[in-house]
Amino acid sequence: MVKQIKTGIFGLDSVLFGGIPEHNQVVVAGGPGAGKSLLSFEFLYRSALEGEIGIMFSLDEEVDKLLENVKEVFVGMEKIDEFIKEGRITVIGEGLSDSVRQVGGDTTYQFGKVVADIEAYVKKTGATRVVIDSISLLDLMINDKIIYRRSMLALASNLRRLGVTSMITVESESIDRGKLEFVPEYFIFDGIIALYQNGEEDKRVLSLEVIKMRGGKHSFMTVPYDIASDGFKIYAQGT
Ligand SMILES: Nc1ncnc2c1ncn2[C@@H]1O[C@H](COP(=O)(O)OP(=O)(O)OP(=O)(O)O)[C@@H](O)[C@H]1O
Ligand SMILES: [Mg+2]
Repeated sequence: MVKQIKTGIFGLDSVLFGGIPEHNQVVVAGGPGAGKSLLSFEFLYRSALEGEIGIMFSLDEEVDKLLENVKEVFVGMEKIDEFIKEGRITVIGEGLSDSVRQVGGDTTYQFGKVVADIEAYVKKTGATRVVIDSISLLDLMINDKIIYRRSMLALASNLRRLGVTSMITVESESIDRGKLEFVPEYFIFDGIIALYQNGEEDKRVLSLEVIKMRGGKHSFMTVPYDIASDGFKIYAQGT
């Protein structure tokens, strides 16, 4: 029986019938503004409350902006600054994304460097929980589909070898349920949590679905969620 990690995120563990199987790499997919960064940050925050060490690689957004946004939304999470100061949560951005953004040259080499950098930071911090937000930039960087797939496999096997449990965000082009495209990372990684946004802008309906989770049973329901000041509220049946 695989050990499950309770995320502590309201309703998520119910949807996952206990939590994320330890060492899994879970893709969090969703359209712009669905809450991918916030959900994955909350995963690290709740882990830190349990004494775990987490690291977030912010490839899309500047670290300061990301943290500013997180603190603005999650005003009820009082220990964010403390966890960062203590090194229980580390957010890394600039250096890594620079190496990702470099255009030209051998992209396989650059990607290899990104993977090596991620490994070095994980080892240095002793992190057991890892967030990569997002890998969509890597998709843009690597035009060749086969090389992209191979690179993703390298990243996945690297994370597995490091023994961490991770969330990897992916921008999905379609935000509507039913139009979700099946891109390589959905097959390569162990789990997929999809965040959907339906309806009009002024009455946006947010919902979450666990599409797959290797090593664990999970609900097949699509359930509504909200982003509150003390974290996500996922309205699983029975919560
Ligand atoms: N004060 C707030 N309270 C609740 N929700 C908020 C608040 N401020 C912003 N939000 C929601 O959070 C969303 C942004 O979350 P987040 O940055 O995690 O999304 P994302 O999926 O990572 O977006 P992107 O694709 O741009 O990276 C906004 O679209 C908005 O719906
Ligand atoms: Mg984001």
